[in-house]
Amino acid sequence: MSLIPNEDIEAVRSATDIVSLAAETVVLKQKGQEFWGCCPFHEEKTPSFKVNPATQLWHCFGCSNGGDVFKYIMLREQLDFPDAVRYLAERSHIELHEVQSQSKTGSKRSRLFELMAKAEDFYHRELMRSTKPKAQEARDYLAGRGFNMEVSKRYKLGYAPGNNKLVDYLLSEGYKPQELIDANVAVRRGQRVFDRFYERVIFPIHDEFSKTIAFGGRIMGSGEPKYLNSQETQIFHKSKNLYALDLAKEALVLSSKAIVVEGYTDVIGLHEAGFKNVVATLGTALTEQHIKILSRFVKQIYLIFDGDEAGQNAAQRALQFIDATKADFYSVLIPDNQDPLEYISEHSSEEFKVLLEAAQPLIKFVLDKTLLSFDLSIPDERARALNEGAEALVYLKEGILADEYTRYLADVLNAELPTVKRAVSNKRAKQRNFVKAEANSSSQPKNGYNRELSAKSLPLSQDEALALNAERELLALIASYPAQMQQYKERIINLSWFSKLNSMIAQAMLEQGEDATATRLVQTAKSIHPRADEILSAGKLLSNTDIEPSQTVEFLLDDLTLKSLQRNLREKKTQLKHPEAFDAKSYDDLFEEVARLQKEARYLEHKMIEASKRV
Ligand code: UTP
Ligand code: MN
Repeated sequence: MSLIPNEDIEAVRSATDIVSLAAETVVLKQKGQEFWGCCPFHEEKTPSFKVNPATQLWHCFGCSNGGDVFKYIMLREQLDFPDAVRYLAERSHIELHEVQSQSKTGSKRSRLFELMAKAEDFYHRELMRSTKPKAQEARDYLAGRGFNMEVSKRYKLGYAPGNNKLVDYLLSEGYKPQELIDANVAVRRGQRVFDRFYERVIFPIHDEFSKTIAFGGRIMGSGEPKYLNSQETQIFHKSKNLYALDLAKEALVLSSKAIVVEGYTDVIGLHEAGFKNVVATLGTALTEQHIKILSRFVKQIYLIFDGDEAGQNAAQRALQFIDATKADFYSVLIPDNQDPLEYISEHSSEEFKVLLEAAQPLIKFVLDKTLLSFDLSIPDERARALNEGAEALVYLKEGILADEYTRYLADVLNAELPTVKRAVSNKRAKQRNFVKAEANSSSQPKNGYNRELSAKSLPLSQDEALALNAERELLALIASYPAQMQQYKERIINLSWFSKLNSMIAQAMLEQGEDATATRLVQTAKSIHPRADEILSAGKLLSNTDIEPSQTVEFLLDDLTLKSLQRNLREKKTQLKHPEAFDAKSYDDLFEEVARLQKEARYLEHKMIEASKRV
């Protein structure tokens, strides 16, 4: 047990202001001499939590919790009393003079911090000053990534020379080999200890109070592992710490938004471009603790995943946190599979801002991603899309938001709402059973593909099947007549497509321009969906030699336009049957819209009949 002297505890207490501490997470309003807000320790809509700047005490009339600053931090950070004191001491940069009784944890901790600071300085000096060719290589490497010496200084980047230079240095500073091992800057081999990091660029990792707690070492060039990171130590916990949180804190609070990226280099790139509210996880998935920490500072959390598969899985995994905090989650897709650093190196800050503004709620982001990976025109794939889409919705608490996205899923799938609702509630039941089963520690066979939702439950209607056919014919024409089809580009892109996948394929092919060969277009289509070649090869109209291709195209476009008009009309007419859902003005507008659509549809029908008479 370590004992923290009373004077130290009192010093920490008087250095801490309960009002500003509470204000980190609670919106406070002054009433008289006290400040009121919604209690951070229980759910409530009207404030019953108050802090008093004079007494430095807090109390909640809702949950009856209350006390001093230490009690506050014990509850908020889930710490015991000594750790709460240590936490607030770090926050106020107060050094504790902990007295050891049986164990030495306290001073061991502070020696660890000191050791890490020394190691950081050592690596940093090597990078900034060493004249060795390898150190020059490290500087060149960083310069090549757009990080000059000023940047290296700001983030205390370093270079690990290896050759036991760090071990020798730290031993000469009076640290014991075991302490080097405990800090995970050295590894033991036989009787001796050796540098853990060698010939790597060093990214030091700091805690919330800028104390050095770990290192990430990047190989220069290619090789495995790309990053070697500190393992967990007494002061480093991957699941709790975030890269650059210390530098981001102020901007987090000011903007009330956090941007979470995957890489150290992404953080530096974005900070340098002026986005200071950026942090990264430390080579692990986002945890609930990360989210809790961030939601102390912000109301909105933007998750930016790399475009690769790992990134997409990470997005899906993050869904589980949606209801774990009050913060709202958004996600952004960076175009061209770039990561944030690549993007910001090639684009302006303004462009990145535009990306952020286009962020989607995380649930929608994941749903869209999921849905896009299926060809919704194939009944079997629609069933699987429903299955996976429902899976994503399970993470939402039942309520308005869940309903809204269930409806959205039904819309995109062109499915009946009750079918989708059933799918989601089946998933919920499964998840509950699964959780129960886990709790009973009896494992339940994992059921990836849901049998109840076999292809038959989502058949296409006759109309839908016809629309799909027409779309496929059009795709086949685009692939076969790359140059001729360019003149219809606008119209094709603006069609209201039944299948989102088909529309993406069409757009991608048309973007290739008039010089593209048909084989290139097929490749383009396959990059959107692996089985696109089957779609493109299935066109029937192509083999009809009686009609000019241009006539065929006109006819097809009219046909598709008409079909989408009719879908639209059906939907609007259904709405017209429920006048009670509208105010008078919007009902009239809807009525006019229906009349207009009807007129347009009749015109198209007429035009098509005339055209077919001519051939
Ligand atoms: P990335 O591979 O995207 O790295 O991994 P990066 O930051 O973009 O790196 P550069 O730009 O290629 O240098 C993202 C993060 O995952 C962790 C690191 O934290 C890295 O920043 N990671 C990655 C590891 O811990 N180990 C690895 O081998 C690779
Ligand atoms: Mn990356």
